[in-house]
Amino acid sequence: MSKPDPEACREQDHGKFEVIRRDGWARIGKFHTQHGIIDTPTLLPVINPNIKTITPRDMWDNYGVQGLITNSYIIWKHEKLRIPALENGVHELIDFPGFIMTDSGTFQAYVYGDVEVGAEEIVEFQRKIGVDVATMLDVFTRPDMSVREWDEAVLETEKRAGPAIKAAGSTMLNGPIQGGLDSSLRKKSSQIMSKHAFAVHPIGGIVPIMEQQRYREFFELILTCNSELPSDRPVHFFGCGHPMLFPLSIALGADLFDSAAYVLFARDGRLLSPEGTVHLDKLDEWPIHTIALYGITPDEVRKMDKNDRTEILARANLEITFAELAKCRQAIRDGTIWRLAEQRSHCNPELREAWIELQKQFHSGKWDNMCRVQNPHRKSGVRCIEESSVNRPDIRSAHLNLQKYWREYPPSREDNGLPPLAVVFTGVPQPHRAYLSRTINHLMAIYPNAIPLISTAAGLVPYSLEDISPFAHLETIADLDRSGDSDYIRAGLVDLGLNEMNFEILGWQEKYAQMEKILAAMAIKLKIGEDKYLLYQNQEVKDKVRTITDRISILDKLTVFTHSDYKLVWDEIQNATFLYSRTGRIKNIHLKDGTHIASPRLTDGGISLTEKGAEWLHSMHTTTLPSDEIYNHENSYIGIPRVVIEDDAIPFIRKGRNVFHGFIISVDSWIRPGFACVIIDSKGEIIGHGISRCEAKDMLALSKGIAVRTRGGITQK
Ligand code: GUN
Repeated sequence: MSKPDPEACREQDHGKFEVIRRDGWARIGKFHTQHGIIDTPTLLPVINPNIKTITPRDMWDNYGVQGLITNSYIIWKHEKLRIPALENGVHELIDFPGFIMTDSGTFQAYVYGDVEVGAEEIVEFQRKIGVDVATMLDVFTRPDMSVREWDEAVLETEKRAGPAIKAAGSTMLNGPIQGGLDSSLRKKSSQIMSKHAFAVHPIGGIVPIMEQQRYREFFELILTCNSELPSDRPVHFFGCGHPMLFPLSIALGADLFDSAAYVLFARDGRLLSPEGTVHLDKLDEWPIHTIALYGITPDEVRKMDKNDRTEILARANLEITFAELAKCRQAIRDGTIWRLAEQRSHCNPELREAWIELQKQFHSGKWDNMCRVQNPHRKSGVRCIEESSVNRPDIRSAHLNLQKYWREYPPSREDNGLPPLAVVFTGVPQPHRAYLSRTINHLMAIYPNAIPLISTAAGLVPYSLEDISPFAHLETIADLDRSGDSDYIRAGLVDLGLNEMNFEILGWQEKYAQMEKILAAMAIKLKIGEDKYLLYQNQEVKDKVRTITDRISILDKLTVFTHSDYKLVWDEIQNATFLYSRTGRIKNIHLKDGTHIASPRLTDGGISLTEKGAEWLHSMHTTTLPSDEIYNHENSYIGIPRVVIEDDAIPFIRKGRNVFHGFIISVDSWIRPGFACVIIDSKGEIIGHGISRCEAKDMLALSKGIAVRTRGGITQK
C-alpha cells in the first residue's frame, strides 16, 4: 500500500527542532524539514544507493520510516548515480519522498584511508542534489590515535566548518563532534562546533568504540558532549543502530541514530534484539515477534538462498529496531526511560559495567547538571529494585531538589528550650501518613522541635513531604531496603543539611500501641516528663498539634515546589486556615484574609497555585528581574521562578494561553521542568502563572513549542 508524500514544514519553521516532551535529557521532538516533520528519537536507516536490500520506497510505505541517510560520496563517485542525482535530485534518485540526510565520505576516509573529494566540493554537491541535511567533511578520530592526532582532527574539522556552512547555503548542515576518547577534546569540539550555524550535531568517531563494546567510555563521552551542545539542535549518534543501546543513549540525549546494522547483521544471519544479537544458526524459535518472520520457522529461513535470507532478516531487524524506538518514546512520555535503560543494562556485561560506572558518577555528583533538569515528579509508581537505582537521575533529581530547597523549618517556631531533634522513622509502609500520622502528632506534642523524617529506599524525606513523588510511590524490594541502617540515615541527614543535629531512629511497628511504647521510651530517654507525655490525650492539644503539622507540610510544599523563601512563606502560613476533605486531607489553603492561594495535588504530592497564590508568591520577590547576570548564578535562587515575556505575547497569556519559546526575554536560572513559575512582563508585572516545561537553558535556546503550560492568565488591574 502506498503512503502519500510528506508535507513540507512551514517555511518559517524550516530547520527548527521542537521539544514536545522531556524526561530529563531524553526528549520527544519534531524536526521541521522540507520533506516532512520528523518525530524523534528515531533512526535513519542507511541506504547504499548501489545495493537496496529493502527499497527506500518500501521503507516509506510499509515501515513508517520518515527519514534515511545515504552517502553523498558514493553518489558523487559513480557517474551513473551522480548525473541523475544532479539532474533530478537525490529524492528521485533513490525514490524516497521523506527526509534525506547524506554523509560526506568521512567514514570512507576512515575505512580506506582517504577520499578524492574536496571538503567544500562535497558539501556543494550535497546542496546541489537537494538533500535535507548535508554533512561536512569532518576528520574521523579513531580510538587508537594519539591525543595530538585527536586534537589536530578537532581543529581541522572546525577549520572546515565555516567554509562548509558557506558552501551549504540554505541547506541544513551536520556539524560532527570529534575528539576520540579524550573528554576535554570532546568538550572543546562541542563548544567550538556549536558556535557555527549547524542544524544538527552528530557525535562522530564512535563506531569503533561501540564495535569494541567500550561502553563505559562511550557513554561518558556522550555525557561530556551533551553537556556542551545547544539544546535547540538535534543530537545524532553517527553509526549507532543496535536497539540494545537505544534506551541509555536516548536517556543521555540522543535524538537521531543512523545505522546499516539492520542489513549488515542480516547478511551475517544475525537478528537484532533489544536484549542483544542472536544468531539464526542457534534458533529453534524466534525470540521476538515480527511480521516478516511470522509463519516461517528459523529452519526454513536457514534453508533459503542467501539473498532471500538476508532480505527477510533485514526486514525483521528493521521492525525490531523501530519497535524499540517506539518503546523508548513511550517511556519518555511515561517518565520511565531511566527504568528502561536500567533494564537493558543487564543485556550485556560491558553495558552493565558502563551502567554501574555511570551510577557511581551520578552518585558522586559529577553529572548533577543533568540530574537537576529532570522533573522528579511521577504520577505513578517508580521502580527502584536495584542497589544502584537510587542514583538514577529520575530518583536522584528528587533528592537534589530536596537538598536545595527544603529547609528545617524556622527554628523560632517553638521557644521551649528543646534543641531541634531529627526523629527518623524506618520501615514505614506506604502511604506513610496512614500508618504514622497519630504517632507523629503525638511526637510533635511532646517534642515540638522534632523534625520527623521517613527513611525510604530512595533516601530520607521529611514527614511533611511524605506524599511527594517519587518517595511516596517507590516500588522496591525488602532486600534492598537500607532504610534502617544508621550509616545510611546519617548520610541522609547530611544530604538534608541536618548533619549537626541529634537524631533518634524509631522502627515502625504494626500496632499503634507498640508505636506508643517506643515513643514513651524515647520520651524517657529525652527526660520528658510524664505530664507532658500525657498531654496528648487532650483534644485541644491534638487539634493544635495537627494544625502545626499541617502548616509545616504546606510550608514545605510551597518552598520545595515553588522555590519561594521559606521564612517569608512561614510568616504568612502561620495565620493560614485550611479547608479539609471528608477524608481529612487538606483541600484548600487560605491566607488570613480568606484568600485561597493553593491546593495540594494528590497525584504527586505537589501543590497547585491559584492566581491569587501566584500573585502572593510573586509579591515576595526582593531581587531584580532575571537577567543574563542572574542566569549565571545557579545558587542565587530566591522566590518563585519568573519568566519574562515579550510585549507581543502579553494579551495571549492574560487569556490563559501557553507561553511559547521565542517570546521569552529572560528567566530565573533556577526554573525547572514540572515546577511552578510566574509569567511577567519586562517591567515585572505578573501576567499569569503556570508550570515550566523545561530548564532555563532550553527556555531561551528553543524557538518553537510550548515553554510554560499556563495555568491561569491574570487580567490587568
Ligand atoms: N559515520 C560514522 N562515523 C562518522 C563520523 O565520525 N563522521 C562522519 N561524517 N560520518 C560518520
